[in-house]
Amino acid sequence: MILRKRGLKVAVSLLALSMTFGTVSFANDVTSKCKSDYSQDQKVVARADAERAIEHVRYLSEEIGPRPGGLQAEKESAEYIANVLKGYGYEVEYQYFPVADQYIADVAFADGTSWQMAAAPNGKVSKEAVTGEVLFVDGGTNLADFPDDTAGKIVVMPRASTTAAYRTQIDNAVKSGAAGVILQSLVGSRGNYGQTFNPSLTTPVDIPVYGAAFIQGEWLKERLAKGPVELSLTAERFSNLESVNVIATKAPKGKNKDTKEVILGAHHDSVVGAPGANDNASGVGLMLELARVYQGYNTDKELKFIAFGSEERGLLGARYYVEQLTQEQRDNIEAVFVPDMVATNYGPAKNLYAMTPNGSTNIVTDSTAAAGARLGNSDILPGKFSSSDHVPFHNAGIPATLFIWMGIDSWDPLVYHIEKVYHTPQDTIEDNISAERMKSALDIIGAGLFDVVRKDVPSLNK
Ligand code: BES
Ligand code: ZN
Repeated sequence: MILRKRGLKVAVSLLALSMTFGTVSFANDVTSKCKSDYSQDQKVVARADAERAIEHVRYLSEEIGPRPGGLQAEKESAEYIANVLKGYGYEVEYQYFPVADQYIADVAFADGTSWQMAAAPNGKVSKEAVTGEVLFVDGGTNLADFPDDTAGKIVVMPRASTTAAYRTQIDNAVKSGAAGVILQSLVGSRGNYGQTFNPSLTTPVDIPVYGAAFIQGEWLKERLAKGPVELSLTAERFSNLESVNVIATKAPKGKNKDTKEVILGAHHDSVVGAPGANDNASGVGLMLELARVYQGYNTDKELKFIAFGSEERGLLGARYYVEQLTQEQRDNIEAVFVPDMVATNYGPAKNLYAMTPNGSTNIVTDSTAAAGARLGNSDILPGKFSSSDHVPFHNAGIPATLFIWMGIDSWDPLVYHIEKVYHTPQDTIEDNISAERMKSALDIIGAGLFDVVRKDVPSLNK
């Protein structure tokens, strides 16, 4: 504070000097300050490597695959992240928290490959396989929609729009003797393809009832066009689940009781059935790559790298993290950077938005906007958006910002542009990841964050 005041005083007297004597010393002072910030930026930009970040995306989305909150795959993801961060020399801890049961289905083909779907808790949920040939029924709210040879088949239907209407589809399938039901998701609420879902049944049904992603339904239709398709359905209820946050700490150069803390945090879970390459292995990959870049640099503030669990289940990891902090610890957090979906290749998502829940600016939006300006990178824009791990921090009064690629002509969710494939089995490196977008996000977030964490005294241009 004293230093900051002194800095301001110096600036003011220089300005007075330059006015009195007509010199340009103030301008020079600002220029050299920016120059020094620019050369600090280069310490990040010259080293941050999109391919390395995408290698983490590859491990999480391909080697592990879907990582639903609380399941074994999410634990594997946590372990991978922890090992990488330990390898860079950071202190790492796991933070566990309870989450609700998951009902997960495995839909296996004759060739041994399988797809993950979500199961209706009130349908048959068993490891004992139900097998049958697939029958696609377009409709199903009328009993007459089912052909005579429905008995013993696994019926796939595009989901009717209300729970009451899809209950009728299921009841009609049961009456027709179906061995199992797979409901194909509707198109999503944000104009994206629909994701897997747990069909809701208020009273039990004794056959398996699963919720498929829209694209899985389309893929089944394509396979059927080539010939009969045999499926083997199994499901499991996972109980007493714990999800996990991974927390790594970079110690400040000289810690005193006033040392502030800065957080870079990204969720590592995905929705059921989705490899989550962009949502959000990309955010984790960016975080891990910046952790590598920063490892040898001295910083004045404490920096925490956090991989949040169970974001997709209601921002649970970030919420738990904030809840267990004392008020004093909350007050000590200066800034929270949340990358979520930072590498999509979707053309119309042409800007990297720095989003706060109420559209206000804060140290995170300001530092990244300034970094973009210094770097001549105009991708970064401010915006207003919730739906991610910045929300629990924001609600606790902590400056927090989400970074996400989008295209915005209007704030109507059906009009703004995000990739169609998010939350679906197509959120893969092949279909949804751009190295250029990853690099731009690494540079802007990396340089903005480095500027905040590097110095005790904020620079004049903030
Ligand atoms: N990465 C998404 C948020 C997102 C999706 C932002 C699409 C912009 C466009 C995030 O992982 C997510 O899906 N969040 C949930 C939050 C909910 C569970 C509280 C969402 O928005 O459904
Ligand atoms: Zn996400």
